[in-house]
This record gives sequence, structure tokens and C-alpha cells, in this order.
Amino acid sequence: MPDLTARVGLVGFGTVGTGVVRVLREHRSDIDERLGFPLVLKRIADIDLETDRGVPLDGIELGTSWEEVVEDPEIDLVVELVGGTGTAKDLVLAALGAGKRVVTANKALLAHHGDEVYAAAARDGTDIAFEAAVAGTIPVLRALREGLCADRIESLMGIVNGTCNYILCEMEEGSEPYPNCLKRAQDLGFAEADPTFDVSGMDSTHKLAILAGLGLGANVHPDDISTEGIEGVANLDIEFAREFGLRVKLLAIAKRREDGVEVRVHPTMIPGASVLAQVGGPMNAVQVRGEMSGPTLYYGAGAGSIPTASAVVADVMELARAKHLGVAGRVPPLGTPTLRDVPIVRSEDLEGEYYLRFSVLDRPGVLAAIAGALGERGISIASVVQPERHESRAVPVVIMTHRAREAALRKALEEIDQQGAVQDETRVIRIEREI
Ligand code: HSE
Repeated sequence: MPDLTARVGLVGFGTVGTGVVRVLREHRSDIDERLGFPLVLKRIADIDLETDRGVPLDGIELGTSWEEVVEDPEIDLVVELVGGTGTAKDLVLAALGAGKRVVTANKALLAHHGDEVYAAAARDGTDIAFEAAVAGTIPVLRALREGLCADRIESLMGIVNGTCNYILCEMEEGSEPYPNCLKRAQDLGFAEADPTFDVSGMDSTHKLAILAGLGLGANVHPDDISTEGIEGVANLDIEFAREFGLRVKLLAIAKRREDGVEVRVHPTMIPGASVLAQVGGPMNAVQVRGEMSGPTLYYGAGAGSIPTASAVVADVMELARAKHLGVAGRVPPLGTPTLRDVPIVRSEDLEGEYYLRFSVLDRPGVLAAIAGALGERGISIASVVQPERHESRAVPVVIMTHRAREAALRKALEEIDQQGAVQDETRVIRIEREI
């Protein structure tokens, strides 16, 4: 009888790696039954073999060298959970070069070097799968790659960073200061090793580059994506948003336009009754709008050890089946053999509604000057709120605009921010109502 066992090597035994061991152990019989052949975790490599991960490791060969995993002729599938673009890139390319099938959750690697990695997989006649790289356990990449492949996607809007969503929700509750919320997200295993990637929006940007490739067929590099994190969002902005029936979410947005694509990540005010506004805590959701399919929504745990590991193991199973059938590259990683180079719409050319929070001294003529600078550039005011009166210190003045061109808005703000009564940089948050 031939040995049908598929053998897996895992590199990176951190939060998600530990989850992978648990999923493989606890669901072993279901997995083997669904596959029709055994799936075995043969080796684990990590630089730290001292820390107790609390999972049984009997029968698994442990080592510190990823090369041993990649060079093991018995290993069919390599799971890369190292993260980053250094060692991870070397080991993924080496594993593909050795004819192994590779599963990764590494969004930074794919966003920055996806073209090289996908080309290597095709050249080496093997496969790479990466569902867990975007929105953790949610099978949104599969949905875009296969379920929606006959459609033309018009837009994607996602809450794809659990840490930021968790922090914004906690701030909304008013319960705890920002550092405590971030610390909890780290303790719960949502945040990146360096949480700056989360709060600066960069993690969402990496995920959006992958989503824009799959959804719009567009070749988007992280540098093309206008990115703003949540560091500048104040409790005050969240409170004002609520007064207008809006909520603040960090959205990753990709839209098809006649003149190119819009790709941006930023805090966004969205209607409180919209589906995305209901996404609470560390959960993720991606809303996809297709020309034929209309809106579809993908919701679930976007981070965390076990949910993310479940997506990793699903990819392992898919590639183990392909190996078993002797096929590779059944569907291209981004759903198309080649991405299109399309113009990326510049921020200045965006058009939308804006929330503006000025910090001004409460003096006669200040509001008139602000309104004048906006009016001169054709920016029409929808609402104004000035909640308090303090003659000696700065007060917030909030203006909601009608649709305006961003270039005109920036010019007006440059002029306004130079006025003596303006005490601080004006806070600008984009509003998206059509979601
Ligand atoms: N740091 C990410 C998040 C984890 O908070 O969503 C998954 O990429």
C-alpha cells in the first residue's frame, strides 16, 4: 500500500502556530475523515523552544532551523508563521523552490513581494495559499477568488484590523483610556508583534493591497495606498459622530472608478445603522459590492490564535488535496494570471463629505472666517456644532460638509489653520454614507 500521509512542517511557533497545533490535534479525526488520508504535523521550527505553549507536542520533531523543515524530503507542506519580510521571504521562496506547497498568514510579505512569491510558485509547479493573511478566519479571499469570479467587483469596504476596531469600540464605550485598550488587545493575541502596524493602519493597508488584487484585479502596492491610522481619533470625535448618527471605524476601501482605482485606509464616519457599524470588538467584516451579485458581507473573527489557525489549517487541507491529486495552480493565487496596472486615484482627487473639528478661541468672527474660507472654494456646509463657550480657551467647532473635492478642502484648511484664533491642527475625518 502506498503511504498517502501528507506531512506538514511548521515554521513559527507563536500565537497562531500554537493554534495550528491545537486545531490539528483537536480536529484530527474530522480532518483525516474529510481528506480521506492522514495529515500529520511532522516538524516545528522556532527560535524559542523553551516557552511552554500548553499544547501536546509528542511525535513532533522540534528544532530551531527553518532550513531543516524546508529540506526534509518527507515534508509536503510548509506553513510559514514567522511574519515580516526577512526570514519569512527566504523560507517561503526556498520551500517553493524545493517543490513544497506553502501556506502563509503573512500579509506584509504578500503585499510587498506577492508578485515574486506567486511567480515562484508557478515556476516551481507548486502552490501557495494565504487565506489567514486577510481577516483571519473569514474565507473572504476564497469568496473573491472563486465564489464571485464571474462578477465585476465595484467596491470593497472592510474592517480588517481587530485591534483598531476593538480600541475604537472601547473608546466609544468611554470605559478605558487608549493604552489600556491596546494592552488588552496584545494580551488577547490580536495585535501584531509591533502594534504600531495595527494602529498606524499599515496592517490594514497590507490586507487591502491583497484584497484589491483579488477583488479588482489591480496591481496595488502598499505605497499606493493612502494610509491614516487611528492614533489621531479623539473620544470627542467619536462623541460628535454619535450626535450625527454616525460611528467611527477604521475602513480599508477599494473602489473601481472609470479613471482608475481608489485605495485608502483611514478612520471613517459611517451611518450608525449600517451593517459595518455593528461590527464590534475585535471582529472583522468585509462588504463586497459586485455589479451582478450586489452587496455581500463576510463577517467573523479577524484575529486571535484559534480562529486564524482554523483558516491556516483549511489552506493546508486544500493544498494537501491538490498534492494528493497531483495538481498545482488550479486557480491563480489572486484569481487571475496577471494583475492590471491601473492608475491609482490621488487623495486630492477624492470627493466626499467631511467631518471637520476646529479648535478655536471663541471670538467674534471666527466662525465667519472659517465658513468664508470654505465657501470661497465651493465647499458647502451641512451642519455646524459649537457645544460650549469659553472665552479664554479653545473650544471645538465641528462642521460637517456636503460633498466636496479633497484638494479644495485641503487648500481651505491650510488657510484656516493659519488664523490666530485656531489653536490646534484641524481634525478631518472622511464620511462614507453609501455603504
Ligand atoms: N493584528 C491583526 C489585527 C491580526 O489586529 O487584526 C491579524 O492580522
